[in-house]
Amino acid sequence: MSTRPLTAGKLPLTELAELKHRGERIVMVTAYDYPSGRLADDAGVDVVLVGDSAAMTVLGHDSTVPATMEDMLLLARATARGAVRPLVVADMPFGTYQVSDEDAIRNAVRFVKEAGVDAVKVEGAGPTLHRTVALVGAGVPVMGHLGLTPQSATMLGGYRAQGRTARRAQQLLDDALALEAAGCFALVLECVPTPVAERITGALAIPTIGIGAGAACDGQVLVFHDLLGLYEGRSPRFVKRYAELGVEIRAALERYAADVRSGAFPAEEHGYAMPQEELTLFRAATT
Ligand code: KIV
Repeated sequence: MSTRPLTAGKLPLTELAELKHRGERIVMVTAYDYPSGRLADDAGVDVVLVGDSAAMTVLGHDSTVPATMEDMLLLARATARGAVRPLVVADMPFGTYQVSDEDAIRNAVRFVKEAGVDAVKVEGAGPTLHRTVALVGAGVPVMGHLGLTPQSATMLGGYRAQGRTARRAQQLLDDALALEAAGCFALVLECVPTPVAERITGALAIPTIGIGAGAACDGQVLVFHDLLGLYEGRSPRFVKRYAELGVEIRAALERYAADVRSGAFPAEEHGYAMPQEELTLFRAATT
């Protein structure tokens, strides 16, 4: 249950910096459709991320790279219908912001106009800095993402923690400051050593949202399917599972299948009756 009084309407984007300023933690979770967006809203979550992790959790790919604009627009549109109060941020899929500023603006504007999201998220620094300036200049709020950036996991040597040497940690701090200067309103830090995330968080005025980046970040994000246990097998070490819904859902489906096969479902109360005289007429006409 949320302990913070909720805003009546949409959480203002500027409120995130206020939360950081007041030392109140920001809660972010991914969601990919209307029911998950609605549940996150009901639970008092501050920010809903339509992550390109959907390529794996929802679409069954083995990385985030295959997510397309059309995939993400469909999911973001449905999520935004459900998540009314939280800020809704959509991940720009790989290839939709790497080519040019014009391309990035065109795609980001589609998210805002066609899907009704409040902001977009882009990964990395370097060329992304220029894109961020262009997107913010076009009026689209941008969340940054540093550390383990899954769209470039191959170049990073796989899904592993980043910034574990003094030189790489310094680079992360420099990139974070550059993204803030480029206009990002918040920054995801993924799989970054706790003291490095703490140093970055202290150096920025904008909030940091950690995933595998320790408790000093201004907020935390987890993937919906991870925190709810919607799959079996091991989770990454930074995940805390708050439920085992995969096990529960499978058990419910097995009970349903058994009931259908045994005839226990549907029972009389699941069916519809008709007036006796209409039934008599119907039977007379069809025998
Ligand atoms: O796609 C995603 O779910 C993300 C989070 C892990 C931050 O980018």
